[in-house]
Amino acid sequence: KSIFKGRDFISLHDFSQDELSFILDVAKDIKADQKAGRPHPILQGKTLGMVFTKSSTRTRVSFEVGMYQLGGHALFLSGRDIQLGRGEPISDTARVLSRMVDGIMIRTFSHQEVLELAEFSSIPIINGLTDLLHPCQVLADLMTIQEHKGRLAGLKLAYVGDGNNMAHSLMFGGAKMGLHVVIAAPQGYKPDSGIIALAQADAKANGGLVEVVDDPAEAVKGADVLYTDVWASMGQEAESKVRMAAFQGYQINSDSLKLANQSAIVLHCLPAHRGEEITEDVIEGPQSVVFDEAENRLHAQKAVMALVMA
Ligand code: CP
Ligand code: NVA
Repeated sequence: KSIFKGRDFISLHDFSQDELSFILDVAKDIKADQKAGRPHPILQGKTLGMVFTKSSTRTRVSFEVGMYQLGGHALFLSGRDIQLGRGEPISDTARVLSRMVDGIMIRTFSHQEVLELAEFSSIPIINGLTDLLHPCQVLADLMTIQEHKGRLAGLKLAYVGDGNNMAHSLMFGGAKMGLHVVIAAPQGYKPDSGIIALAQADAKANGGLVEVVDDPAEAVKGADVLYTDVWASMGQEAESKVRMAAFQGYQINSDSLKLANQSAIVLHCLPAHRGEEITEDVIEGPQSVVFDEAENRLHAQKAVMALVMA
């Protein structure tokens, strides 16, 4: 466990297959404790600072409740209220918070800012979403897939839609855990080429496969897991009209389910836009596990916090 102490959780690329498996095992144990009502005050007396410069429901609630259940405390620090929002440097914020709290979770736009926060902090930094990555979500996704499918390696995961933070973290997490990840995205909205290269190298070393294609039908064919995300992410509101046109056909719907494996499950990080990237019948249908997935944010992140902050 000491190999985790003090580490940042910024990208799944930074963790080995064994380490990710271990975090998932701890998450499973912590979930069992919580369900059985067994106290697990692993972070008694510890405080997590939560910096948000973007909106959140799941991330905010799961980190705050998670800290409480671990015996610690969480502080909600809105970018609008703290001095960071008035131009105080990240490097100063990092050094001040490091003297007062035991870990920082940050959700913001620029991934570079999170790296800078980590550089100047002496405490663990947890990435609660940037424009580039969303590792906590994918940890919960892997946990959910494992619960429903009994395994990870060898499964085909099809992601249909924007080559965004979700696509990137699914490629990283999937590659490390030996999944076959296929991303179907339209031209102009493909995942970042640098991330694709890193994920493909990770896949090769860990028995996975990462592919990027144009055709959603090709991606979902025979898939065990179907995944999608919004066409316009936080911060891209002004592009939503253009994006709406560009993403026509990049939807998870009943036709996708017909092409996928009969026992396929459907995931979505939420919030969802019904009628855009996913249809109402599919997200509300029997193959959808989106609320198990949302719940697992709590358990998965408790494992991360327990390991890096204890
Ligand atoms: N999936 C996710 O991160 O949700 P929130 O934006 O509500 O935190
Ligand atoms: N891609 C979405 C994910 C939200 C959880 C966004 O960045 O807004």
